[in-house]
Order: sequence, then structure tokens, then C-alpha cells
Amino acid sequence: MKKKVISYDDALLRLLDQRFLPGREEYRQVRGSREAAEAIEDMTVRGAPAIGIAAAYGYLLGFLETRGMELSGVKRHMRSVREKLQGARPTAVNLKWALDRMHGLFETLPETSDTAGALLREAESIHTRQIESDIKMGEEGARLLENISGEKNRKLKVLTHCNAGGLATGGIGTALGVIKTAFGKGLIESVYVSETRPRLQGARLTCYELSGDNIPFRLICDTMPGYFMSAGEIDAVITGADRIAANGDTANKIGTYQLAVLSGRHGVPFYVAAPLSTFDPGTPRGDGISIEERDPSEVLEIGSARIAPRSASARNPAFDVTPAGLISAFITEKGAVRDINELQ
Ligand code: MRU
Repeated sequence: MKKKVISYDDALLRLLDQRFLPGREEYRQVRGSREAAEAIEDMTVRGAPAIGIAAAYGYLLGFLETRGMELSGVKRHMRSVREKLQGARPTAVNLKWALDRMHGLFETLPETSDTAGALLREAESIHTRQIESDIKMGEEGARLLENISGEKNRKLKVLTHCNAGGLATGGIGTALGVIKTAFGKGLIESVYVSETRPRLQGARLTCYELSGDNIPFRLICDTMPGYFMSAGEIDAVITGADRIAANGDTANKIGTYQLAVLSGRHGVPFYVAAPLSTFDPGTPRGDGISIEERDPSEVLEIGSARIAPRSASARNPAFDVTPAGLISAFITEKGAVRDINELQ
């Protein structure tokens, strides 16, 4: 990613507006906590780690709104800022993780301290930690792909779904970071990108990133992975995650579960790359993860063109849950493991 996805300077949060990519590279300038929450909700910024980072800066903007307020008013405002930001999207736990850190810090700071400075340093550290984690995940995941490439004695064709790249993290990405690192080591022949209906994060965003990095790829429809797996054309599948429950069940973009089932059927390794901030020990199993249901118009239309009869109705869950047993390994900044208990 050559473009900066998220940046903050002098009370201004700048977000590369992902709603318009790849057609327009435009920045949205966010000056307040309410607008930060709107930008997360309307998917100006999206991807689990990126919304956590944007929320951290949004929380800081919220604090800057309290100038001149009495302490009780400041505390009330910060509770409502946290609630508004956290309510922007329900599934990715990184949002809660980042806000817990920001609000936890706010609550422990003495009244006399430089609160804005401390909150800025915390938001920056959340941002930097993600950039560093991406690099480590890239190395860990590339090692797994190196083994497969060694066994097959050739470069690999890998499939990824949605966008788990720099646009989703502000760094090199999680799943796409693994692919970029492995490509740099000469292990990847090409990438299959599933289009990811309804919002087309694969077609619009992952293809945009791979083009920018000169990594060979083919866009395929969401209906095609079974065909390519049965033809032996896919050596591994790598996706990101939005929330990983305590037992390893993993919520990610709708369509991930069917990819994991197909991978199991065809003996294709299915990897999930995610930072530790995506692991949610507070949710025991996948059925406890809240799944965002978005507007049916996203299914009934492509762009603004209606594709179904006026009388049609639709369902639009944005995520699904892949049972832990279908996941060959979790790739994290602390190593790649088959069983997430090995991370503790
Ligand atoms: O609805 P989105 O675009 O925010 O969904 C994004 C995904 O599902 C990603 O795969 C996930 O957040 C991991 S991003 C590193």
C-alpha cells in the first residue's frame, strides 16, 4: 500500500475513503468523535484492525470535545463517545479491544495529567503495534507456505477472500500480508481473489492492493472456489478474521465458512491470519458472536443498479462463523498454531 490508510495529526483524522476505491483515491477528513463513528459505520474505513485504530483516534477526538467542561461532564461525554464508537459495528472485536484500552487509560489518569497527550500516545501505540504485528504475521505465514511449496517443489496458487490487506490494518495486512511476504520470497505464482459480494471488498480492494504491489492475481466470483479446488488449482486459502472465540471458532466476512468447508473436502490447508487483538477470550464459542446484518439493498443492487425484481426481498449477514476444527492454523504475531490454547 503506497497510500496512507489512516493518519492523525493536530486534531484531524484522515481516512482513505474505501467506499470509492478503486475508482477514486479520496481522503475523508474527520474532526469529531461522532463523525469517526459514522466513518466506521458507513465503511469509509473497514477491516477489523483498521476500525479499532480509527476508533482509538476517534476517542481522542472525543476527548478534545470536552474543553471547558467540568470533570463530571467530561466523564459522561467520554462514556457516551465510547458507546457511540463501539456501537458503530458489532462483529469485529478489535473495536472493543481498542476502546477498552483508550477508556481504561482515560479512567486511570490523574485529573492534573496531560490527558490528551497520553490518549494520543495510546492511539499511536495501537496503530504502530498493528503495523509491527502485520510484519510478524507475514513472516510466520510465509514459513507455512514455504513448507507447502517445498513439498510440491513449485510456486503456489493461493486464494484469499474479502480484503485483509493494508486497507484493513494500516500496515501490510494480515492474510494479504502473508501473501505479500511469501511473494517477496518467491513462493507465490498467483493469487485467486474471490469478489466478496455484496460489498465487493475482494474485487475492489484486494485487487487494488495486489495491482499496486505487482503481485499476479485473478479475480473469481464467489461461486467459483469449489471448481478451482476440485481442479487442484488452489494450494492454500488464507483469510483474516473479525473475532476469534475462546474455542477458536472464527467470525470473518460472509463466505469464509463455505471456503473452509470446501478446503476440508479438497485437502487444501485453510489458514486464518489475525493479530492477538482479534482474539476474544470473553466469548466462549462462535455462536456467541454477534453477526452484523446489513441493509438488504446491498444484495438487491450492485452499485446503484437494481438486479432483482422490485418485489424481491433479501437477507444480508455481513459475517459468518467457521468452526475451529476446519482451520488448519492460526497465524498470529506470536507464531502460527493449530490450537489456539498453544498461544497462552
Ligand atoms: O465488512 P468488512 O469489510 O469490515 O470485513 C472485513 C473482513 O471480514 C476482514 O476479513 C477482517 O476484518 C480481517 S481484516 C485484516
